[in-house]
Amino acid sequence: MSRSLDLPSYLDQSKGVADRFEKLRNRPVKLKVEDLGKKFNTPKGEILALNKINLQIHRREFITVIGPSGCGKTTLIRILAGLDFPTSGKVLLEGRKMEGPGAERGMVFQDYTLFPWLSVKKNVMFGPEIKGLGTLKAEAEAMEWLEMVGLAKFADAYPGQLSGGMKQRVAIARSLANRPEILFLDEPFGALDAQTRSSMQAYLLKIWQNVDVTVFFVTHDLDEAVYLSDRILVLRANPGEIDELIEVPVPRPRDPGQFLTPEFLATKKRLEELIRPPESAQNEGIPMIRLTEMGDEVE
Ligand SMILES: Nc1ncnc2c1ncn2[C@@H]1O[C@H](COP(=O)(O)OP(=O)(O)O)[C@@H](O)[C@H]1O
Ligand SMILES: [Mg+2]
Repeated sequence: MSRSLDLPSYLDQSKGVADRFEKLRNRPVKLKVEDLGKKFNTPKGEILALNKINLQIHRREFITVIGPSGCGKTTLIRILAGLDFPTSGKVLLEGRKMEGPGAERGMVFQDYTLFPWLSVKKNVMFGPEIKGLGTLKAEAEAMEWLEMVGLAKFADAYPGQLSGGMKQRVAIARSLANRPEILFLDEPFGALDAQTRSSMQAYLLKIWQNVDVTVFFVTHDLDEAVYLSDRILVLRANPGEIDELIEVPVPRPRDPGQFLTPEFLATKKRLEELIRPPESAQNEGIPMIRLTEMGDEVE
């Protein structure tokens, strides 16, 4: 392909980008993962879903995990969010060993997890009210978060009346209303069409710019990973291990015009190399099935 001829290396960083990463590395470590492993016992035997994962995430970093299906992305995010436990190694939250979920960690899943019997506003108020904030204060906070995700007008609607993208924005607002220090999102935009997805990415970047929150994001969309992230953690499967941790050389603030810049394409090309197996392996063992009549080849 000709495009690879004149692309820079994804390792090249402009001075501005290099300075940003230098600053990022000097921020306090929010989450530290040490030699983390996770085994599952299944009827078919033991699965090593994660093996020797070591990682440090800094305050207000936007980190994304990418990798083939089954490489352990969901297992990792669930453990870091406190919804599951490692079978070896440990997770430290600001230096303290983590036990179970906590209000300082919020989670957004791909499936919409709103309470269908509560209005949009009541869904967002839920966390603050549980924390003991009075109804009026909880309502004021909920409205601020709904404003941030562009849904203040829909405060009195019910989840069933909203589109998928809107529901997911409410889910993000509901998580943020608990004031998490880290927001975990597992393929949150995976079920949305391309256009909605790109507006969701813009909302998420805006939120991250305006709120003091560290973001841990899982996707299998290469463009999404490059567009959003400071660093991308690439996992490989069987066992789930770190393949590479990439510093994204695309300057911030990000905008969709950057999708075709050399540094964006160079990073995407690197992800493709890591995630797509070499062609010889791809063709192995896959039977060729002809769905056309003989003689109508399209060469
Ligand atoms: N609760 C479980 N019990 C048994 N095996 C599991 C369980 N959860 C995940 N696995 C296995 O662990 C591996 C990683 O799964 P997962 O974290 O869901 O991957 P990903 O999210 O990257 O697709 C897969 O082989 C999967 O089958
Ligand atoms: Mg998953």
